[in-house]
Amino acid sequence: MSDVAKLTMPDGKELTLPAYTGTEQEKCLDISALRKETGYVTFDPGFGNTCPAKSSITFLNGEAGILRYRGYSIEDLCEKSDFNAVMYLVIYGELPTEEELATFLENLQKYSEVKPQLLKLYDALPQDTHPMIMVSSMLAGLSAHYPQFTNPQNEEEVEEAIFVALGQILPIVASAYCKNNDKEFKYPSDKNLSYGAGLLKMMFGDDYEVDADVDKILDELLILHADHEFNCSTSTARLVGSSQANIFASLSAAVQALWGPLHGGANQKVIEMLEEIAGEGGVEAIDKFLGMAKDKSNPFRLMGFGHRVYKNYDPRAKIIKKTCDKVIEKLGVEDPLLAVAQKLEAAALQDEYFTARKLYPNVDFYSGIVYRALNIPTEMYTPLFALGRLCGWIAHWREQNLDAGARIGRPRQLYVGPTERSL
Ligand code: CMC
Repeated sequence: MSDVAKLTMPDGKELTLPAYTGTEQEKCLDISALRKETGYVTFDPGFGNTCPAKSSITFLNGEAGILRYRGYSIEDLCEKSDFNAVMYLVIYGELPTEEELATFLENLQKYSEVKPQLLKLYDALPQDTHPMIMVSSMLAGLSAHYPQFTNPQNEEEVEEAIFVALGQILPIVASAYCKNNDKEFKYPSDKNLSYGAGLLKMMFGDDYEVDADVDKILDELLILHADHEFNCSTSTARLVGSSQANIFASLSAAVQALWGPLHGGANQKVIEMLEEIAGEGGVEAIDKFLGMAKDKSNPFRLMGFGHRVYKNYDPRAKIIKKTCDKVIEKLGVEDPLLAVAQKLEAAALQDEYFTARKLYPNVDFYSGIVYRALNIPTEMYTPLFALGRLCGWIAHWREQNLDAGARIGRPRQLYVGPTERSL
């Protein structure tokens, strides 16, 4: 097959566009010369057809329901690896040897305590501040506290900045919880805990016993959130980084993008929606809420359903649904919201509106039920997403930073405002 495409312009001029094929046979047309050659730009709201860079971090096939980091399936990684190794894999491209992992964790450990002065930033915020605001503010504050690691053109500085961000995200997330709940924030005595166990101990106290299965479940959830190619928050990290803003600034912006209810903020919104359904009669009220989601005059959407890329069951949701059953059984939790979620899912999957549009449960549909079973409050669900996704943002920021062909992100517009007029 030809590796070029021909585009005929309205004036009959023909333009030859190079066509690329990715390693997974995805097809891509290079339009980078389009405006220069023809004066035209492309119109692509939501960037549904726009690929701003080549990337080798994550592959996903939304039709087949496949998600792989650096070639390894999320199913295999959840079963045979752990989040520490996955962070390394996502950022550096290979699973670490034992020695590489030990050095990586030592580097994170070097920076695992937030500077006490930075923690005082919370004092400037109201008590009920959403933890995502705190997490984003603290990450931005790292630029001020580590100015010696903020030069994107210095690879050594960038590496240290990565260790700072990965080392401190855990106490940042946990201290945000403590601030919200008026609890004193303390570091656990054991310095070698997994992210999940460390988080639970920092949130609930050093004497909190972390069950090994719960530890494994949290680790699995973090793996499932580790990366998802050019989603909204990752594209934000890339766009901010493209101006050569430092990595902390880019990560802080990515957290804000993640917080939106159409993106990572959906995990909190799912539980709030299920609570609303439960409050209006539980399973009896499902039809009403499905009706609202289908009504085009109503802005309500079924939270935790639908995805820009997945037109099949989100493979992360498949794993989380099984985990959810396990955790509920293991902890003997009776959560009325689980029954509502299951009935809602079943009803939507039989409804022509959802089937015709290929709307399936996404990663956020069942994760909240798991967090609820672990007594993690609703407003912490999106910070937990950020905890997992941080390594993905870093990997993308770093990949772009090392890409000699990267340019500042600067889309074009189709101006439809007034033409020149005088006062
Ligand atoms: N409830 C009702 N209708 C929906 C939903 C939904 N959750 N999602 C999509 N649709 C409809 C949409 O109205 C449109 O209908 P029509 O063709 O008649 O105009 C059609 O399905 C296609 O949707 P779209 O708006 O073009 O899809 P999108 O790719 O722009 O948006 C989405 C993707 C995830 C923002 C959207 O599905 C949504 O709002 N879902 C609910 C929020 C949510 O769960 N977000 C988490 C996403 S997964 C995790 C993450 O990315 O962080």
